[in-house]
Amino acid sequence: MILPPKPPARPDKVSLWRYVKLFRQDILSAQPAKLYRAWMAEFRTPFFRSFMVNDPTLVDLVLKERPDDFPKSSRVSEGLRPLLGESVFLTNGETWKRQRRIIDPAFEGGRLRDTFPAMWAASQACVARLEEGIIEIEEVTSHAAADVIFRTLFSIPIENEIAAEVFNEFRDYQRSQPIVNIAAFLPLPRWMPRFFRRRTRETAKSVRNLIARLTQARADEIAAGTAPDDLATKIMTTADPETGERFTPEEMVDQVAIFFLAGHETSASALAWTLYLLALYPEWQERLAQESAALNKCDFKVMSELKLSRDVFREALRLYPPVPMMVREAGCPHTFRGREVKTGSQIVLSPWHLHRHERIWARPDAFEPERWQTEEGRRCAREAYMPFSAGSRVCTGAGFAMVEGPLILSMLLKMFRFELVEGRVPQPVAHLTVRAKDGIWLKVSKR
Ligand code: HEM
Repeated sequence: MILPPKPPARPDKVSLWRYVKLFRQDILSAQPAKLYRAWMAEFRTPFFRSFMVNDPTLVDLVLKERPDDFPKSSRVSEGLRPLLGESVFLTNGETWKRQRRIIDPAFEGGRLRDTFPAMWAASQACVARLEEGIIEIEEVTSHAAADVIFRTLFSIPIENEIAAEVFNEFRDYQRSQPIVNIAAFLPLPRWMPRFFRRRTRETAKSVRNLIARLTQARADEIAAGTAPDDLATKIMTTADPETGERFTPEEMVDQVAIFFLAGHETSASALAWTLYLLALYPEWQERLAQESAALNKCDFKVMSELKLSRDVFREALRLYPPVPMMVREAGCPHTFRGREVKTGSQIVLSPWHLHRHERIWARPDAFEPERWQTEEGRRCAREAYMPFSAGSRVCTGAGFAMVEGPLILSMLLKMFRFELVEGRVPQPVAHLTVRAKDGIWLKVSKR
């Protein structure tokens, strides 16, 4: 049985400078294989200590039991601040709590049902755009995921002039953006990551100006009583239940920027890997294609019938978690597995390693969507599965993504077949999300 691609591991012992070099290329292949078996690893640098924790009880401590002791690491946030400002992804403490109180209601179950027609329309548009031939599939899934965000948030398709411009500028941003996670591992003094390239700052500014036009227009429509009932309207009209305050149009720019970034990069990565896995395991592709017959009308209830599609998407999120690592900072001293964790230490949580942990999962590197229907699979899911993080800072869009992913997948498989292209084995690398080094190439043909 062939296994899905996994990045090569580095040798156990390398010099610091070799590590830095490897790290700059890709954080996944810069790690030694022993991290797939370790419960914890300590990285010592002259300026601070980092701990990668794979022990489920420590992961729970950091994310669920004492999240206030482990705020988001400012070392990592710096890289995204020019684009995301004070968005919910970067803030901590009271500011973050207030922001979540306003945002969370927009993503609750009932609202998800309301956004379904927009997701359906975006999935159909994706099918209509797709052409036969050998194509790079990440481009296709990025386009589709960006379309979903604009349609659900602002009721506009990606063809809209401003939407298209935001999408294009974002690509530039990613290209010019340094790998942010680097700052959590490497012995750089705290001021280092602040030196952004000029191009990065300029792109961030231009994306934010474009978004500001959308939020201002929406504020005007809300005032005039003509606003559509979508996520942007819901968020901009929700008052914080504790203070009664709403987001100002400026604050909304920060939040829209993160919805766009967190919502489209991640889903695009997950969908592209899922399609690759289905090309690698055509028997699963056929099963999903059969299941897709259920998609006959735009009705949220259809989601309960896309069970295989959901399990396959879950399995792809296990093998290729779009956010491979997350970083927190110890806000006070702790002891982890008998070791002293000083204030200011960087705590790295790694869905990438946890999801393939050899002491937790049976056949961790194998693609086995059927595992999700077993007792053993469910136990592992509780202990060691967190593609959307966990605890109070869990991804706000988790429910949204678990509808969008299986729906787009199923819609595509109803119409198309995806096959491997000889000589093109994608190698996973971590950019902002887990992507393939030279793209994911597939042969697409109509069914
Ligand atoms: C497959 C798709 C997705 C994956 C794998 C994913 C994963 C994650 C992860 C791991 C985090 C936590 C990051 C950290 O703590 O450092 C996160 C946070 C977040 N995600 Fe997602 N996400 C996805 C889709 C979405 C979508 C569709 C949206 C919105 C429309 C969204 C909005 C957010 C926001 C706002 C946060 C910040 C939450 C906070 O810090 O309080 N995500 N996501």
